[in-house]
Amino acid sequence: IDSVLILACGTSYYSGCTAKFWLESIAGISTQVEIASEYRYRDSVPNPRTLVVTLSQSGETADTMAALKHARNLGMTHTLTICNVATSSMVRESAMAYITRAGVEIGVASTKAFTTQLAALFLLTLAIAQVRQRVSPQQEAEHLRAMRHLPLALQAVLALEPQVIAWAQDFARQQNALFLGRGMHYPIALEGALKLKEISYIHAEGYAAGELKHGPIALIDEDTPVVVVAPHDGLFEKTLSNMQEVAARGGKIILISDAAGIAAAGNVAHRTITAPACDPFVAPLVYSIPIQLLAYYTAVLKGTD
Ligand code: F6R
Repeated sequence: IDSVLILACGTSYYSGCTAKFWLESIAGISTQVEIASEYRYRDSVPNPRTLVVTLSQSGETADTMAALKHARNLGMTHTLTICNVATSSMVRESAMAYITRAGVEIGVASTKAFTTQLAALFLLTLAIAQVRQRVSPQQEAEHLRAMRHLPLALQAVLALEPQVIAWAQDFARQQNALFLGRGMHYPIALEGALKLKEISYIHAEGYAAGELKHGPIALIDEDTPVVVVAPHDGLFEKTLSNMQEVAARGGKIILISDAAGIAAAGNVAHRTITAPACDPFVAPLVYSIPIQLLAYYTAVLKGTD
């Protein structure tokens, strides 16, 4: 294969958007991520040397299934599904399947399916990187070490629950919210907005932090909380300048970062959540937890179904 095409809907689409960063930067393979309901109805240029990856919790989402069949009809036969249900149609229809084994998703909102999709996609990245000789054995071992550290990092982030509950108390009174992120954390911001609107019925939008000044900044006032997902990585300084723009408009920033990021942000944030320090590549898995918890506790406090 010489490229990857990821097809999915909703939350699964966002895990694909995160994986694009891994696949292009670690495995050096050109990657496209498409919303299944768009891909299936548009004319596209097929490449038979593409690995078509469908992502789905249920394995039954009609648009994703149709997009998979569409890709196959266009001559793309290298198909892999990353799916949570071993007996699903998507598993049956794909040449290869990776079962995430997250357990049954009971609520409507995909949560553990999302984090396990990310874990699967990170492993896929390492497998492709290995075949393409883009990682040395040492680099591969380092990435795997970062993955093995995840259970500890996730335990630490789950311990932030009391802080998230306090934060949700403010949030439950809001009408609107913005979520900002850059790079791998842009899809996490999109996911944070989706989760909040889906289960707490608060209008929320996710934006690439650098895009804020191109229009949406007009929405900022003291009644619009702005959640910024920004570990202290190579993009942090850029995001900090976006936070300063928000603060200058009176916007209330809730910053989710690690200790180094919180210190670097000084007093620009109204509220902070300190996530554990972790490897920058696997950080999206860790940062998705506080935003899932925020949506959950806001919904509980609002008494939404
Ligand atoms: C959001 C959510 C949905 C699903 C989407 C795709 O919380 O759960 O956006 O992610 O409907 O579903 P699957 O992954 O089953 O194909």
